[in-house]
Parts: sequence; C-alpha cells; structure tokens
Amino acid sequence: MTLPSLACPIVLAPMAGGPNTPALAAAVANAGGIGSFGFAYQSPERIAEDLAAARRLTGGALNANFFVFRPVEAPAPDVAARALATVAALPGAADVTLAVPAPPYYPDLTAQLEPVWRLRPEVLTFHFGLPPSGVIARARALGISVGITATRASEARAIAAAGADFVVAQGREAGGHCGVFTAGDPGEWLPVRELVRAVRAVTDLPVVAAGGLMTGADIRAVLSAGAEAAQLGTAFLATTESGASAAHRRYLMTERARGTVLTRGFSGRYARGIRNAFTDRVAGADVLPFPLQNTLTAPLRRAAGARDDGEYQSLWAGERYALCRGGGARELVRELLAELDAA
Ligand SMILES: Cc1cc2nc3c(=O)[nH]c(=O)nc-3n(C[C@H](O)[C@H](O)[C@H](O)COP(=O)(O)O)c2cc1C
Repeated sequence: MTLPSLACPIVLAPMAGGPNTPALAAAVANAGGIGSFGFAYQSPERIAEDLAAARRLTGGALNANFFVFRPVEAPAPDVAARALATVAALPGAADVTLAVPAPPYYPDLTAQLEPVWRLRPEVLTFHFGLPPSGVIARARALGISVGITATRASEARAIAAAGADFVVAQGREAGGHCGVFTAGDPGEWLPVRELVRAVRAVTDLPVVAAGGLMTGADIRAVLSAGAEAAQLGTAFLATTESGASAAHRRYLMTERARGTVLTRGFSGRYARGIRNAFTDRVAGADVLPFPLQNTLTAPLRRAAGARDDGEYQSLWAGERYALCRGGGARELVRELLAELDAA
C-alpha cells in the first residue's frame, strides 16, 4: 500500500487541541487532498463523532492522527514542587485548581483506535514514534494507509522497517510539537527541504513534507526535493473553518513580528509557538515530563482562552506564520494550487 492517490498534493496537518473541525477536514478532502484530525488526547466517543461528522461532508480522504505516548515515571517530589510553583505564580493561576497529575497520565491508544477500525478513515498517522506492534498490520488489513512522523533519517529508517506506508518528514520550521521519537531536546533537526532529501536517501516510501509551507511555491519546492505531498498546519489555522481560539487567530494575523520559540513549558515536550508571556516566564524553569506538564497547565490555558488572553495560551505556529492569509479553507486550497501551477 501507499498514500491514497490524491488529486491535490495537500494534506491538512493534524492539529490537536481543536483546530481540526469536521468542516476544515472536509474542505481539504473535497479539494482532493487529505483532511486530518489530531486526536491526541481525545476520547473514543469524540473521535467517532468527528470522523462521522466529516464523513457526512466528504467522500474524500480523511486521516486520524494519534500521539504515541510512552510510559512515564512520576516526577521526583522536588521537581514536581518547582514545576507547580512556576505555573502557580502566573497570572490567572489563583482562579484555577492546579495539581501535579496522577496516573493514568495519558489516554489508552487501544481504546482510541476502536472508532478508527469501525469507521475506517483512509489514513492513520502517528506522532512521537512507532505505534504498538500489530497496529500497522491491522490498518493494512482494513485498507487504511499508515504514516508516521520522522524528524531525522534514522527515524525514517525505523518507520520503513516497521512496515508503514509513508513517512511524514517534519522539518524544524514546523508549528506544534516536534515529533522526535525520544522526548527531550530535538537536537540536530533539519529544515524541511533538506530533511525530505535525507529521508529519500534512506527509504523508497512516499514522503509527505511538513514545516513552514505557506505558499504554492513552498509546496513546489518540497515536491521538487522528492516529496509526494505537502502537509500544512499553520496556513490553515487562521481560516474560517478552523477551530483555533480567537486569540490564536488574532496573534497569527496581527502579531507578525513576534516570531516563534520552541518551548517545553506547555506540555513537557518541545513544540513551536508564537512567543508570549507564558513562553518567556517558563523558559528555563523545571517542567513535568510530557504529557504531565500538559495536564498541569491545562486549567490555566483554558481560563486564558475564556478571557481571550493570548499571553497564557499555547499559540502553536510554524516559523513562517506571518504569511497566514485567513479566508475560507476552500479558497486557500484553490490559491495554493494556482500558485503551485505557476511555480
Ligand atoms: C496547532 C498545531 C497542532 C499540531 N498538532 C499536531 C498533532 O496533533 N499531531 C501531529 O502529528 N502534528 C501536529 N502538529 C504538527 C503538524 O503536523 C505539522 O508538522 C506542522 O503544522 C507543519 O508546520 P506548519 O505549521 O508551519 O505548517 C501541529 C501543528 C500545529 C500548528
């Protein structure tokens, strides 16, 4: 098996935390690309609802994306106390309940995959490593194509050896979490075009390129480097159909000079977002391991969302977010394809 055949080489990036609405996924799938959902922390019930809602809007290709969580040890009491104190000192913290999380620390992937086996989206992808054994074979038996994120050639080699159908080559420009297999500093992380070439050098699997792709010319550049398709996240965040928060959209469209930072402060794993008061204040502080830090900071981020405060939310965005256009997702895909033709 391989990637589903696509009339349009555009993949909507899976984006956990709300941006991937059924309307957004369907807009990209209806244009002949792949419409994705980032189901990272989602319940099986919600996964089933989203897939079914998107299926009512499109007969095109849908992708269900999951995080591969790894067993985590409880943090040492002194580290936990310092991490908690850092977050408790932030504005708005007094209004919410903050606590060091107790197990289970993350959702059960087996339960999350049940709706996938039932509803059979065309594509299933994983971030942060290889899924447990048996998952790829089961997907294949159902005709579901499996892709896994690689941030370096060694990971692409492991993905090919595991029997996946394609590699998502995520370059260092990318918004959101770095998909590196082992949590910690991403270390040597190539820009997307160089990464596509490095991945092509170690495997014949189709490559989907991701990271900082905002225009049709960007898509042309990664296709020329050997990718089959381009995965765009940030470009779709500010579209009408996106479920990103009001502050997130506003910062993407108006706070163009801020730039992005790679931070562990929100979740415990490195992720790229627009620099804000939270990323500045948590920089260098002790944090809980992923995803405990995510659970710890969730009430504070939710409260910031409710008061429309962009300084204490995670504003995930790729390095080139200043090129966000807004407007409808269908129009964006049309513009990108026209630019791709012209490039
Ligand atoms: C808001 C946001 C959330 C993301 N969540 C996920 C996710 O759940 N799963 C995943 O595989 N990638 C996730 N990513 C990374 C994207 O798959 C992709 O690598 C990235 O968006 C590409 O860079 P760009 O944002 O510059 O287009 C996320 C990216 C963003 C911006």
